[in-house]
Amino acid sequence: MKTLTDLCKKDSLNIEGTVIKMNKTKILILGGSSYIGRYLFNALGKDRAIPTYYKNPINNGIYFDSLSMDLAQILKELNSVSHAVILLNDTNFETSAQNIEKSNALNIDSLKLIVNCLNHHNITPIFCSSDYVFDGIKGNYTEEDPVNPIITYGKQKVEIEKFIQKTCDKYIIVRFSKVYGSEEGDGTLFTNWLEEITSNKKISCAYDQIFSPVYIDDVTTAIIELIDNDCNGIFHISGNVAFSRLDLLEILLKHFRGKSQIKTEVVRCSIHDFPFIEKRPLNISMKSDKLIKTTKIQLHDINTICKKIVFDHFKK
Ligand SMILES: NC(=O)c1ccc[n+]([C@@H]2O[C@H](COP(=O)([O-])OP(=O)(O)OC[C@H]3O[C@@H](n4cnc5c(N)ncnc54)[C@H](OP(=O)(O)O)[C@@H]3O)[C@@H](O)[C@H]2O)c1
Repeated sequence: MKTLTDLCKKDSLNIEGTVIKMNKTKILILGGSSYIGRYLFNALGKDRAIPTYYKNPINNGIYFDSLSMDLAQILKELNSVSHAVILLNDTNFETSAQNIEKSNALNIDSLKLIVNCLNHHNITPIFCSSDYVFDGIKGNYTEEDPVNPIITYGKQKVEIEKFIQKTCDKYIIVRFSKVYGSEEGDGTLFTNWLEEITSNKKISCAYDQIFSPVYIDDVTTAIIELIDNDCNGIFHISGNVAFSRLDLLEILLKHFRGKSQIKTEVVRCSIHDFPFIEKRPLNISMKSDKLIKTTKIQLHDINTICKKIVFDHFKK
Protein backbone atom coordinates (compact mmCIF):
# COMPACT_ATOMS: atom_id res chain seq x y z
CA MET A 1 0.00 0.00 0.00
CA LYS A 2 1.24 3.51 -0.84
CA THR A 3 1.96 5.80 2.11
CA LEU A 4 1.19 9.52 2.15
CA THR A 5 4.93 10.12 1.74
CA ASP A 6 4.92 7.98 -1.40
CA LEU A 7 2.02 9.96 -2.77
CA CYS A 8 3.64 13.27 -1.91
CA LYS A 9 6.70 12.28 -3.93
CA LYS A 10 4.44 12.46 -6.96
CA ASP A 11 3.38 15.75 -8.53
CA SER A 12 -0.13 15.61 -7.15
CA LEU A 13 -2.17 14.22 -4.30
CA ASN A 14 -5.65 12.85 -4.97
CA ILE A 15 -8.04 13.06 -2.04
CA GLU A 16 -11.57 11.84 -2.81
CA GLY A 17 -11.26 12.85 -6.44
CA THR A 18 -9.76 16.28 -5.74
CA VAL A 19 -6.34 16.61 -7.33
CA ILE A 20 -4.08 18.90 -5.34
CA LYS A 21 -0.99 20.03 -7.20
CA MET A 22 2.10 19.91 -5.07
CA ASN A 23 5.43 21.60 -5.62
CA LYS A 24 4.49 22.38 -9.19
CA THR A 25 5.50 25.93 -9.82
CA LYS A 26 7.10 26.05 -13.26
CA ILE A 27 5.55 27.39 -16.42
CA LEU A 28 6.31 25.71 -19.72
CA ILE A 29 6.25 28.15 -22.65
CA LEU A 30 5.51 26.14 -25.81
CA GLY A 31 6.77 28.46 -28.52
CA GLY A 32 9.09 30.39 -26.20
CA SER A 33 10.94 31.66 -29.28
CA SER A 34 7.84 33.48 -30.57
CA TYR A 35 7.59 37.26 -30.33
CA ILE A 36 5.28 37.04 -27.31
CA GLY A 37 7.12 34.03 -25.86
CA ARG A 38 10.42 35.89 -25.62
CA TYR A 39 8.83 38.72 -23.63
CA LEU A 40 6.94 36.28 -21.43
CA PHE A 41 10.12 34.31 -20.68
CA ASN A 42 11.93 37.53 -19.88
CA ALA A 43 9.16 38.61 -17.50
CA LEU A 44 8.99 35.22 -15.72
CA GLY A 45 12.72 34.54 -15.61
CA LYS A 46 14.58 31.28 -16.03
CA ASP A 47 13.86 30.08 -12.48
CA ARG A 48 10.14 30.08 -13.15
CA ALA A 49 9.77 29.35 -16.86
CA ILE A 50 10.97 26.77 -19.37
CA PRO A 51 10.72 27.91 -23.01
CA THR A 52 10.73 25.70 -26.09
CA TYR A 53 11.92 26.65 -29.57
CA TYR A 54 11.79 25.06 -33.00
CA LYS A 55 13.86 26.83 -35.68
CA ASN A 56 15.07 29.81 -33.64
CA PRO A 57 17.09 28.70 -30.60
CA ILE A 58 16.85 30.73 -27.39
CA ASN A 59 19.00 30.70 -24.25
CA ASN A 60 17.85 28.10 -21.70
CA GLY A 61 15.35 26.79 -24.27
CA ILE A 62 14.43 23.19 -25.08
CA TYR A 63 14.12 22.03 -28.70
CA PHE A 64 10.58 20.92 -29.50
CA ASP A 65 9.03 20.22 -32.89
CA SER A 66 5.33 19.68 -32.30
CA LEU A 67 4.92 18.00 -35.71
CA SER A 68 7.39 15.20 -35.07
CA MET A 69 7.91 14.97 -31.30
CA ASP A 70 5.77 13.77 -28.42
CA LEU A 71 5.54 16.37 -25.64
CA ALA A 72 5.65 13.51 -23.12
CA GLN A 73 9.35 13.07 -24.03
CA ILE A 74 10.00 16.55 -22.72
CA LEU A 75 7.70 16.34 -19.70
CA LYS A 76 9.51 13.15 -18.59
CA GLU A 77 12.45 15.37 -17.66
CA LEU A 78 10.28 18.05 -16.01
CA ASN A 79 8.14 17.08 -13.05
CA SER A 80 7.46 20.53 -11.70
CA VAL A 81 5.28 22.12 -14.39
CA SER A 82 1.90 23.51 -13.26
CA HIS A 83 0.92 25.49 -16.41
CA ALA A 84 1.83 25.43 -20.09
CA VAL A 85 1.37 28.52 -22.26
CA ILE A 86 0.64 27.37 -25.83
CA LEU A 87 1.99 30.02 -28.20
CA LEU A 88 3.38 27.87 -31.00
CA ASN A 89 1.43 28.25 -34.22
CA ASP A 90 1.64 29.10 -37.89
CA THR A 91 0.76 32.74 -37.31
CA ASN A 92 0.77 33.79 -40.95
CA PHE A 93 -2.85 34.14 -42.15
CA GLU A 94 -1.83 33.82 -45.79
CA THR A 95 0.21 30.60 -45.45
CA SER A 96 -2.50 29.11 -43.20
CA ALA A 97 -5.05 29.73 -45.96
CA GLN A 98 -2.75 28.75 -48.83
CA ASN A 99 -2.11 25.24 -47.58
CA ILE A 100 -4.91 24.39 -45.15
CA GLU A 101 -3.88 20.75 -44.74
CA LYS A 102 -0.34 21.76 -43.77
CA SER A 103 -1.42 24.46 -41.34
CA ASN A 104 -4.11 22.21 -39.82
CA ALA A 105 -1.36 19.69 -39.03
CA LEU A 106 0.39 22.27 -36.83
CA ASN A 107 -2.45 24.53 -35.66
CA ILE A 108 -4.99 21.77 -34.97
CA ASP A 109 -3.62 18.21 -34.95
CA SER A 110 -0.37 18.85 -33.10
CA LEU A 111 -2.09 21.17 -30.60
CA LYS A 112 -4.74 18.54 -29.77
CA LEU A 113 -1.97 16.04 -28.99
CA ILE A 114 -0.30 18.65 -26.79
CA VAL A 115 -3.54 19.35 -24.89
CA ASN A 116 -4.13 15.61 -24.36
CA CYS A 117 -0.61 15.22 -23.04
CA LEU A 118 -0.98 18.21 -20.69
CA ASN A 119 -4.24 16.74 -19.36
CA HIS A 120 -2.50 13.43 -18.77
CA HIS A 121 0.21 15.20 -16.75
CA ASN A 122 -2.29 17.35 -14.85
CA ILE A 123 -0.86 20.58 -16.31
CA THR A 124 -3.21 23.53 -16.93
CA PRO A 125 -3.10 24.77 -20.55
CA ILE A 126 -3.11 28.47 -21.34
CA PHE A 127 -4.13 28.60 -24.98
CA CYS A 128 -3.28 31.76 -26.92
CA SER A 129 -6.18 32.47 -29.23
CA SER A 130 -7.11 35.54 -31.23
CA ASP A 131 -9.67 38.23 -32.07
CA TYR A 132 -10.02 36.44 -35.45
CA VAL A 133 -12.43 33.96 -33.81
CA PHE A 134 -15.08 36.64 -34.54
CA ASP A 135 -16.71 37.52 -37.88
CA GLY A 136 -16.15 41.27 -37.46
CA ILE A 137 -19.78 42.30 -37.91
CA LYS A 138 -20.63 43.49 -34.38
CA GLY A 139 -17.32 44.65 -32.88
CA ASN A 140 -16.56 45.33 -29.19
CA TYR A 141 -16.81 41.60 -28.53
CA THR A 142 -16.95 40.25 -24.99
CA GLU A 143 -16.16 36.71 -23.82
CA GLU A 144 -19.92 35.99 -23.87
CA ASP A 145 -20.31 36.70 -27.60
CA PRO A 146 -20.58 33.69 -29.92
CA VAL A 147 -17.59 32.95 -32.13
CA ASN A 148 -17.97 32.78 -35.92
CA PRO A 149 -14.58 32.84 -37.67
CA ILE A 150 -14.38 33.61 -41.37
CA ILE A 151 -10.65 33.01 -42.07
CA THR A 152 -8.74 29.71 -41.72
CA TYR A 153 -6.50 30.98 -38.90
CA GLY A 154 -9.59 31.94 -36.84
CA LYS A 155 -11.32 28.62 -37.59
CA GLN A 156 -8.24 26.75 -36.34
CA LYS A 157 -8.23 28.82 -33.12
CA VAL A 158 -11.92 28.06 -32.53
CA GLU A 159 -11.37 24.33 -33.05
CA ILE A 160 -8.70 24.28 -30.33
CA GLU A 161 -10.74 26.53 -28.00
CA LYS A 162 -13.66 24.07 -28.25
CA PHE A 163 -11.40 21.04 -27.85
CA ILE A 164 -9.92 22.52 -24.66
CA GLN A 165 -13.35 23.42 -23.27
CA LYS A 166 -14.51 19.86 -23.91
CA THR A 167 -11.47 17.97 -22.61
CA CYS A 168 -9.90 20.07 -19.82
CA ASP A 169 -11.27 20.50 -16.28
CA LYS A 170 -9.15 23.61 -15.86
CA TYR A 171 -7.90 25.90 -18.59
CA ILE A 172 -7.23 29.50 -19.52
CA ILE A 173 -8.02 30.67 -23.05
CA VAL A 174 -6.62 34.11 -23.79
CA ARG A 175 -7.75 35.89 -26.94
CA PHE A 176 -5.21 38.52 -27.96
CA SER A 177 -5.98 41.45 -30.15
CA LYS A 178 -3.06 42.65 -32.31
CA VAL A 179 -0.03 42.84 -30.03
CA TYR A 180 2.35 45.79 -30.49
CA GLY A 181 5.73 46.66 -29.04
CA SER A 182 7.78 49.82 -28.74
CA GLU A 183 11.27 48.62 -29.68
CA GLU A 184 12.38 49.80 -33.10
CA GLY A 185 12.89 46.79 -35.36
CA ASP A 186 10.56 44.50 -33.39
CA GLY A 187 8.35 44.04 -36.47
CA THR A 188 5.11 45.14 -34.81
CA LEU A 189 2.40 47.61 -35.82
CA PHE A 190 3.83 51.06 -34.96
CA THR A 191 7.53 50.23 -35.29
CA ASN A 192 6.89 48.88 -38.81
CA TRP A 193 5.23 52.17 -39.73
CA LEU A 194 8.12 54.08 -38.18
CA GLU A 195 10.47 52.37 -40.62
CA GLU A 196 8.19 53.25 -43.53
CA ILE A 197 7.84 56.86 -42.38
CA THR A 198 11.60 57.35 -41.98
CA SER A 199 12.26 55.90 -45.43
CA ASN A 200 9.51 58.11 -46.96
CA LYS A 201 7.55 55.11 -48.22
CA LYS A 202 3.93 55.36 -49.31
CA ILE A 203 1.66 53.77 -46.68
CA SER A 204 -1.67 52.27 -47.76
CA CYS A 205 -3.84 52.15 -44.67
CA ALA A 206 -7.36 50.78 -44.12
CA TYR A 207 -10.04 53.05 -42.68
CA ASP A 208 -12.48 50.16 -42.22
CA GLN A 209 -10.41 47.59 -40.31
CA ILE A 210 -11.23 48.09 -36.63
CA PHE A 211 -9.44 46.44 -33.73
CA SER A 212 -8.19 47.12 -30.20
CA PRO A 213 -4.40 46.60 -30.09
CA VAL A 214 -2.65 45.69 -26.86
CA TYR A 215 0.87 46.52 -25.65
CA ILE A 216 3.26 43.57 -25.28
CA ASP A 217 4.03 44.34 -21.59
CA ASP A 218 0.28 44.22 -20.83
CA VAL A 219 0.07 40.82 -22.53
CA THR A 220 2.81 39.31 -20.38
CA THR A 221 1.50 40.94 -17.18
CA ALA A 222 -2.02 39.68 -17.93
CA ILE A 223 -0.89 36.08 -18.55
CA ILE A 224 1.16 36.02 -15.34
CA GLU A 225 -1.69 37.55 -13.29
CA LEU A 226 -4.19 35.02 -14.67
CA ILE A 227 -1.86 32.17 -13.69
CA ASP A 228 -1.02 33.61 -10.25
CA ASN A 229 -4.70 34.25 -9.49
CA ASP A 230 -5.52 30.65 -10.45
CA CYS A 231 -8.06 31.85 -13.03
CA ASN A 232 -10.15 29.61 -15.24
CA GLY A 233 -12.03 30.33 -18.47
CA ILE A 234 -11.82 32.72 -21.42
CA PHE A 235 -10.25 36.19 -21.17
CA HIS A 236 -9.82 38.89 -23.80
CA ILE A 237 -6.37 40.48 -23.68
CA SER A 238 -6.89 43.60 -25.74
CA GLY A 239 -6.82 47.31 -25.39
CA ASN A 240 -10.20 48.51 -24.24
CA VAL A 241 -10.65 51.03 -27.08
CA ALA A 242 -11.49 50.27 -30.74
CA PHE A 243 -9.48 52.06 -33.44
CA SER A 244 -9.37 51.88 -37.21
CA ARG A 245 -5.95 51.07 -38.67
CA LEU A 246 -5.92 54.57 -40.15
CA ASP A 247 -6.68 56.17 -36.72
CA LEU A 248 -3.68 54.31 -35.28
CA LEU A 249 -1.35 55.52 -38.03
CA GLU A 250 -2.58 59.08 -37.44
CA ILE A 251 -1.71 58.84 -33.73
CA LEU A 252 1.87 57.86 -34.59
CA LEU A 253 2.12 60.53 -37.29
CA LYS A 254 0.90 63.22 -34.87
CA HIS A 255 3.87 62.53 -32.59
CA PHE A 256 6.27 62.30 -35.53
CA ARG A 257 5.10 65.64 -36.96
CA GLY A 258 5.96 67.24 -33.62
CA LYS A 259 9.62 66.28 -34.20
CA SER A 260 10.19 66.31 -37.93
CA GLN A 261 8.71 67.00 -41.36
CA ILE A 262 6.98 64.04 -42.96
CA LYS A 263 7.22 63.24 -46.66
CA THR A 264 5.38 59.92 -46.41
CA GLU A 265 2.19 59.72 -48.48
CA VAL A 266 -0.72 58.04 -46.68
CA VAL A 267 -3.20 56.34 -49.01
CA ARG A 268 -6.60 55.80 -47.42
CA CYS A 269 -8.11 52.50 -48.56
CA SER A 270 -10.35 49.59 -47.60
CA ILE A 271 -8.96 46.39 -46.07
CA HIS A 272 -10.74 44.64 -48.94
CA ASP A 273 -8.47 46.46 -51.44
CA PHE A 274 -5.54 44.25 -50.38
CA PRO A 275 -5.16 41.00 -52.36
CA PHE A 276 -5.51 38.62 -49.43
CA ILE A 277 -6.51 35.00 -50.13
CA GLU A 278 -9.43 35.22 -47.72
CA LYS A 279 -11.71 38.19 -47.06
CA ARG A 280 -10.77 39.67 -43.69
CA PRO A 281 -13.34 40.48 -40.99
CA LEU A 282 -13.90 44.23 -40.52
CA ASN A 283 -14.54 45.04 -36.86
CA ILE A 284 -12.89 42.52 -34.52
CA SER A 285 -12.43 44.94 -31.62
CA MET A 286 -12.78 43.30 -28.21
CA LYS A 287 -13.54 44.47 -24.68
CA SER A 288 -11.14 43.52 -21.88
CA ASP A 289 -13.38 44.44 -18.91
CA LYS A 290 -13.36 40.86 -17.57
CA LEU A 291 -9.54 40.81 -17.53
CA ILE A 292 -9.34 44.25 -15.89
CA LYS A 293 -11.92 43.32 -13.23
CA THR A 294 -10.24 39.97 -12.49
CA THR A 295 -6.59 41.04 -12.44
CA LYS A 296 -6.86 44.82 -11.73
CA ILE A 297 -4.35 45.31 -14.55
CA GLN A 298 -3.84 48.91 -15.78
CA LEU A 299 -3.44 48.86 -19.54
CA HIS A 300 -1.00 51.18 -21.30
CA ASP A 301 -2.59 53.68 -23.63
CA ILE A 302 -1.63 53.87 -27.28
CA ASN A 303 -0.96 57.61 -27.31
CA THR A 304 1.68 57.27 -24.56
CA ILE A 305 3.42 54.37 -26.28
CA CYS A 306 3.45 56.15 -29.68
CA LYS A 307 4.98 59.20 -27.99
CA LYS A 308 7.66 56.95 -26.46
CA ILE A 309 8.40 55.23 -29.81
CA VAL A 310 8.96 58.58 -31.52
CA PHE A 311 10.94 59.99 -28.56
CA ASP A 312 13.25 56.94 -28.49
CA HIS A 313 13.72 57.16 -32.26
CA PHE A 314 14.93 60.79 -32.15
CA LYS A 315 17.02 60.18 -29.01
CA LYS A 316 19.34 57.82 -30.94
N1 LIG B 1 1.37 38.57 -32.22
C1 LIG B 1 0.08 38.90 -32.25
O1 LIG B 1 -0.29 40.07 -32.52
C2 LIG B 1 -0.97 37.87 -31.90
C3 LIG B 1 -2.33 38.24 -31.91
C4 LIG B 1 -3.29 37.27 -31.61
C5 LIG B 1 -2.91 35.97 -31.28
N2 LIG B 1 -1.58 35.64 -31.29
C6 LIG B 1 -1.21 34.25 -30.96
O2 LIG B 1 -0.16 34.26 -30.00
C7 LIG B 1 0.79 33.21 -30.27
C8 LIG B 1 2.20 33.80 -30.43
O3 LIG B 1 2.18 34.77 -31.47
P1 LIG B 1 3.56 35.39 -32.02
O4 LIG B 1 3.20 36.43 -33.01
O5 LIG B 1 4.42 35.77 -30.85
O6 LIG B 1 4.16 34.11 -32.77
P2 LIG B 1 5.45 33.99 -33.74
O7 LIG B 1 6.44 35.04 -33.38
O8 LIG B 1 4.96 33.93 -35.15
O9 LIG B 1 6.07 32.57 -33.33
C9 LIG B 1 5.49 31.34 -33.70
C10 LIG B 1 6.07 30.27 -32.79
O10 LIG B 1 5.67 28.97 -33.25
C11 LIG B 1 6.81 28.12 -33.17
N3 LIG B 1 6.68 26.99 -34.09
C12 LIG B 1 6.40 27.02 -35.41
N4 LIG B 1 6.38 25.78 -35.91
C13 LIG B 1 6.63 24.93 -34.88
C14 LIG B 1 6.74 23.52 -34.74
N5 LIG B 1 6.59 22.69 -35.78
N6 LIG B 1 7.02 23.00 -33.51
C15 LIG B 1 7.18 23.81 -32.46
N7 LIG B 1 7.09 25.15 -32.50
C16 LIG B 1 6.82 25.71 -33.72
C17 LIG B 1 7.98 29.03 -33.55
O11 LIG B 1 9.22 28.47 -33.17
P3 LIG B 1 10.62 28.94 -33.92
O12 LIG B 1 10.50 30.43 -34.13
O13 LIG B 1 11.68 28.57 -32.94
O14 LIG B 1 10.69 28.18 -35.21
C18 LIG B 1 7.61 30.26 -32.71
O15 LIG B 1 8.01 30.07 -31.38
C19 LIG B 1 0.28 32.51 -31.53
O16 LIG B 1 -0.47 31.39 -31.14
C20 LIG B 1 -0.63 33.53 -32.19
O17 LIG B 1 -1.65 32.94 -32.96
C21 LIG B 1 -0.61 36.55 -31.59
